[in-house]
Amino acid sequence: MPGIFITFEGIDGSGKSTLISLLSRMLDDRGTDHLVTREPGGTTLGRKLRAVLLNPQAAGLADMVELLLYEADRAQHIREIIRPALERDRIVLCDRFSDATIAYQGFGRGLPMDRVRAIDSQVRDGLLPDLTVLLDLPVEAGLNRTRNRNLGKKNARESRMDDEAASFHEKVRRGYLEIAASEPGRFLVLNGLRQPEELARAVMDELEARFKDAL
Ligand SMILES: Nc1ncnc2c1ncn2[C@@H]1O[C@H](COP(=O)(O)OP(=O)(O)OP(=O)(O)O)[C@@H](O)[C@H]1O
Ligand SMILES: [Mg+2]
Repeated sequence: MPGIFITFEGIDGSGKSTLISLLSRMLDDRGTDHLVTREPGGTTLGRKLRAVLLNPQAAGLADMVELLLYEADRAQHIREIIRPALERDRIVLCDRFSDATIAYQGFGRGLPMDRVRAIDSQVRDGLLPDLTVLLDLPVEAGLNRTRNRNLGKKNARESRMDDEAASFHEKVRRGYLEIAASEPGRFLVLNGLRQPEELARAVMDELEARFKDAL
């Protein structure tokens, strides 16, 4: 597959969206064509699924249904957005991807890992990120950030995951670290407590080292 597929992972409030927008600006400044997208919600169908998945009123969603909705979003996103962009040799920056499913629905919810991996593997159909940036930070720090961010909004309609107990996010954090340790070549693990500009610089250095010719 041509193109470069870069994904961004980490617990809620780890700074993924902030980092991606800084990187996108840096790529724009150097005239490097790229696409920014996210899961869930990168397609028209995905935005409907996102509204269900992140709605705090959707309590009671069965864990297996949650898994299947995330994977439905991913299947559509890959077909409609990610693969066509990569086929046109573009750089794709994606806010969350399959590792989020392994971390949240596998490690966090405790769904049988072999089943989670099998379903995700069917959906990815061989597609894997060229690089995954994992922003790691203590759960409490991430949750404090999302609380502060949600304070500024009239109705925090996307707080279903933020409302989970700290122990859930702890499992997710440890899960992410375990995935990263098992595939060190694909991951760049960064301390999410660092300043946003510093983090963006570190990712850009990594991109320059790995994909010099494409930038
Ligand atoms: N490196 C950083 N240092 C301090 N604050 C940060 C940093 N990165 C982001 N923030 C702030 O923390 C909050 C959460 O950041 P952001 O929305 O980028 O996280 P996220 O990982 O995208 O969260 P979510 O998983 O909920 O989408 C925002 O208010 C943002 O301004
Ligand atoms: Mg975000």
